Amino acid sequence: ASAPAAVKYNMRKSLDLDREGCYLQAGNRGCLEECGFNATTKTIFIIHGWTISGIFESWMYKLVSAVMQRETEANVVVVDWLPMAQQLYPDAVNHTYAVGLDIAAMLNWLQDEQQLPLQNVHLIGYSLGAHVAGYAGTHVRGTIGRITGLDPAGPLFEDVEKEQRLSPDDADFVDVLHTYTREALGVSIGIKRPIGDIDIYPNGGEVQPGCTLGDVLAVAGNFMDVMKCEHERAVHLFVDSLMNRDHASFAYQCTGPDRFQKGICLSCRKNRCNNIGYNARKMRKRRNSKMYLKTRADTPFAGYHYQMKMHVFNRKNSDNADPTFYVQLFGAHKDTGDLLVNVIGLNLTNTFLVFTEDDIGDLLKIRLTWEAEGDSWSSVWKNLKKSFWGWKAKPVLQIRRIRVKAGETQKKFTFCAQDPEKTEISSGESLTFLKCRDGWEVKPRKRYEMNDG
Ligand SMILES: *[C@@H]1O[C@H](CO)[C@@H](O)[C@H](O)[C@H]1NC(C)=O
Ligand SMILES: *[C@@H]1O[C@H](CO)[C@@H](O)[C@H](O)[C@H]1NC(C)=O
Ligand SMILES: *[C@@H]1O[C@H](CO)[C@@H](O)[C@H](O)[C@H]1NC(C)=O
Repeated sequence: ASAPAAVKYNMRKSLDLDREGCYLQAGNRGCLEECGFNATTKTIFIIHGWTISGIFESWMYKLVSAVMQRETEANVVVVDWLPMAQQLYPDAVNHTYAVGLDIAAMLNWLQDEQQLPLQNVHLIGYSLGAHVAGYAGTHVRGTIGRITGLDPAGPLFEDVEKEQRLSPDDADFVDVLHTYTREALGVSIGIKRPIGDIDIYPNGGEVQPGCTLGDVLAVAGNFMDVMKCEHERAVHLFVDSLMNRDHASFAYQCTGPDRFQKGICLSCRKNRCNNIGYNARKMRKRRNSKMYLKTRADTPFAGYHYQMKMHVFNRKNSDNADPTFYVQLFGAHKDTGDLLVNVIGLNLTNTFLVFTEDDIGDLLKIRLTWEAEGDSWSSVWKNLKKSFWGWKAKPVLQIRRIRVKAGETQKKFTFCAQDPEKTEISSGESLTFLKCRDGWEVKPRKRYEMNDG
């Protein structure tokens, strides 16, 4: 093998990545002036990960362009360690330490030469690049302002000590997006454990909408493209946060994806929610703070989360009915289609999450439909069951009220059955709920500013 290639620092002057930028070299003062390096503004380093092709992939162009458009004064520097990253994966992993040290040395030199305040430095690392940023943060003199890890690499990092991977100690604020944490053959491409001050798991960090095999095959992809779609989604969510400020996505703190899926975690009190991506607000150090949200399949990725609670009374013969519920939301601007929800128990208060891709405006009306399993004609067994029940024994449920909390606005409402005399439904029927009269809106206890940055 040849001598280790040098890390290159390509300071971008043009949005077109194919046009050579200007190269920073530690020890070469002339290049700072030549590149127009401005030590009083933000400095953003973008660090790529492992590569098979040895060239920049399309996400890099998009990210650089989005950063430059959002921060027009900033020094935007692409850290190019492609020759060291285009190796067998374990060898590329081995190079992350040296590349991190090199970045630390570059930042030390900028501090000496230009009194660069490290607080204004933001490292953005994708995959292996996230751990490179971690090493840079550990070894630089002082504390870097912010490190963003975009789906930090999992293999050979999942179980190592925090000194050997990105960790909250590496910068004043470390935020991480996890998009591909599904385990296959005992490893996950993106690291599963939380490793920052905040760790956001869009769509549970698992199946990303638009990335299923079916979706990808539809545009002539293969299995590798599925992996790439989910791993790279972290970058695209970050780009989205730079470009679509008026469509910000919020993530909500929760102990796990199952609880989030039940809609239990839509609170913004005490910093329990945050913007995702570039607009994330710095929070006090709190380790292992996992946050969740659902997203759309494409940009703008933001959608709307609702928590719904309702008590489902079993009035007649529904014990074995295994009910399927759908809700349809009617808003001031738009209505949704029928959305399948998970209702787990009868004679219980059920909580569930409803996600809409569109902004429906103020929620005005909810329609609830249910089907007992015995009512679907999909199998002979079910048909037998239906005829066994006969007409007289048709199962009946009762729902009087639905309590709703909107995640994005933090508003709470109670919806009552449109006709108070009719709160029971047989399988296959629908019930309509309207906002209860007499000021049933529950005011948030404390006004929460969703966007302060
Ligand atoms: C450097 O950045 C600061 C802060 O954005 C700005 O006020 C100043 O004009 C910049 N200097 C030059 C030479 O562009
Ligand atoms: C990493 O590289 C160093 C220097 O080339 C070598 O001594 C060491 O064995 C490598 N470690 C691994 C895990 O490959
Ligand atoms: C629910 O309550 C009804 C009426 O009180 C009762 O007949 C039924 O067995 C209960 N069902 C379950 C699943 O507990």
